[in-house]
Amino acid sequence: MKPRNVIIDCDTGIDDALALLLALRSPEFNVLGITCVCGNVPLDKVVRNTLVVVEHSGKSVPVYRGAYRALVGAGHTAEYVHGSNGLGDLVFPEPKIKENPEHAVDFLIRSFTEATEPIELITLAPLTNIALAIQKEPRLAAKIPSVVMMAGGIENGNSTVAAEFNIYADPEAAEIVFSSGIQRKMMVALDPNRQGGGVYSEDVSQIEASSAAWCQMGAALLRYQLERWKNFVGKEMPTFPPDMTAMGIAIDPSLANAEMLHVDIETGGVHTRGMTVVDRRAMRGIFRAAPEPNINVVWTLDNARYRKLVLDTYLG
Ligand code: BDR
Ligand code: CA
Repeated sequence: MKPRNVIIDCDTGIDDALALLLALRSPEFNVLGITCVCGNVPLDKVVRNTLVVVEHSGKSVPVYRGAYRALVGAGHTAEYVHGSNGLGDLVFPEPKIKENPEHAVDFLIRSFTEATEPIELITLAPLTNIALAIQKEPRLAAKIPSVVMMAGGIENGNSTVAAEFNIYADPEAAEIVFSSGIQRKMMVALDPNRQGGGVYSEDVSQIEASSAAWCQMGAALLRYQLERWKNFVGKEMPTFPPDMTAMGIAIDPSLANAEMLHVDIETGGVHTRGMTVVDRRAMRGIFRAAPEPNINVVWTLDNARYRKLVLDTYLG
């Protein structure tokens, strides 16, 4: 089978790095480009980390710099999760490869409007770049056949009780993308990870045993997360990098148990700004105000097959 063309938007971040390595090593994907947005850390660090990841992947893929802040307000970063450098304060050599001079928004518009073959969009970050691209070229949304997003929470958020980081950091951008005419939208929320989707210490040991640069980088980040969880919870736990979960599902959608639902983004709210408001009302069809389902929401994933996909892809 011919690899599928994809473009990935990210805010690299520990779990973005893991997801990018998975995508770049996957035989299923032809990664056309990676666009960067501020998020887990400020934009300069995101771009630098993304270049580090691409270099470790052994692949040659262009990296584009996008928005340095959210559409409204100053946005948020998450060094408390990702360390001050965004990669758990682990030290990786400065990348030799350079970013592409084209702006991420222009790259997105050009790629989708000039495409002669389908390109899938995968987002692991606040949706600022995608919203800006749609605002600059409103015909773009109809040219994007599908987007898989690590975005939102069904039960709860993580940045706040209500809001997951990628939505919380730019709710206005999320509102534009969720209500856009992109043909097929999938929301990989925090919930599949909370329902047990993760990788285990024994998986990481197998990746650690490979001397390949991408395995060494991926294993270092996974081991960092496992140790962090262990110290926090006081016992051994699997690790649940949500961006890598979303990437696994983008690679093989049959891993996901998903349902078409209506989701709105809360852009106001005293306690709920950035919430993904998921309409799960029983018999919602009898309520006149119930809007049509607009997005495929992932509830759980087949974790045994996901772990195998991660190992097979890293160890290739
Ligand atoms: C999401 O926010 C970031 O911290 C992670 O990189 C992931 O994309 C999880 O809420
Ligand atoms: Ca991310």
